[in-house]
Amino acid sequence: MNALVDNGDAAGLAGAGPSLGEAEFAFLREFVLQHCGISLGDHKRQLVQGRLLRRLRALGLAGFADYCDLLRRDPDAELGELASCISTNVTSFFREMHHYDLLVDELLPRWLEEKRGGRLRIWSAGCSTGEEPYAIAMVLAEALERSGAGIDAKILATDLSPQALAAARKGVYPIDRLGGVSDARRKRWFLRGEGSFDGFVQVHPRVRELVTIQPLNLLHDWPMQGRFDAIFCRNVVIYFDKPTKQRLFARYAGKLEERGYLFLGHSESMYGLSDDFDLIGRTVYRKRP
Ligand SMILES: C[S@@+](CC[C@H](N)C(=O)[O-])C[C@H]1O[C@@H](n2cnc3c(N)ncnc32)[C@H](O)[C@@H]1O
Repeated sequence: MNALVDNGDAAGLAGAGPSLGEAEFAFLREFVLQHCGISLGDHKRQLVQGRLLRRLRALGLAGFADYCDLLRRDPDAELGELASCISTNVTSFFREMHHYDLLVDELLPRWLEEKRGGRLRIWSAGCSTGEEPYAIAMVLAEALERSGAGIDAKILATDLSPQALAAARKGVYPIDRLGGVSDARRKRWFLRGEGSFDGFVQVHPRVRELVTIQPLNLLHDWPMQGRFDAIFCRNVVIYFDKPTKQRLFARYAGKLEERGYLFLGHSESMYGLSDDFDLIGRTVYRKRP
């Protein structure tokens, strides 16, 4: 997970409330490692404290010991909120454009040709607020239109953060978030808000209908049936520890079609972590036959 990027808020809050003791920090570290796959270094204590103070206030808790009790009582209920506090949901439309170029120039034309009458499935795992799956859906909608192929095509978008998923479901964004979107796509795939939505856009229904949004912790069981032609898991595993990454990549291999594709984020790599994939482009892997 792209966890604990210090954006300055922690420093501002630390000292303005209860402090995170050693025992509670040790519990939280173990909890986060087990349930989110993130290993928090010793030096992250202040930062964790700052991030979680907001959550303590929202829950009306007096201190971190109460928060740890709450996690012990019902780990699953609070997990998404905890993960949201300690991770960043930073994302954008058409982030790492070279992945979309590969989709548009090579993969989508091939899939749509080969799969006439069949199904195409893409998974955005760690979709955050939705920009990634919607951008994939835009290029998919364009390719479907061009090819005229009758294909059952769908994108599954999952994340464990309840706030991120709620934003993804709305599909409403401030106009200044469209930096990576071409003029043609802005016109084609976004509806401009009016009145109280002035300054916002909503993703076009044609794009939204291609995307199914579901909560899912990647470390838990996966209820999905069937395999995917491509999995985007970008900027998610960066702070996972090594065994968690190894397990996850092995599970992705099991969930991909023969010669299916796995896309990682710009600073992520599978080097030394899996023998199931060949590197075929910049942070793009293909499952070995
Ligand atoms: C930095 S965002 C990346 C968003 C998008 N993939 C991109 O590259 O722009 C990382 C996302 O991964 C999600 N995430 C982290 N750990 C996860 C886990 N164990 N299960 C599901 N989602 C997770 C976070 O909630 C966050 O929304």
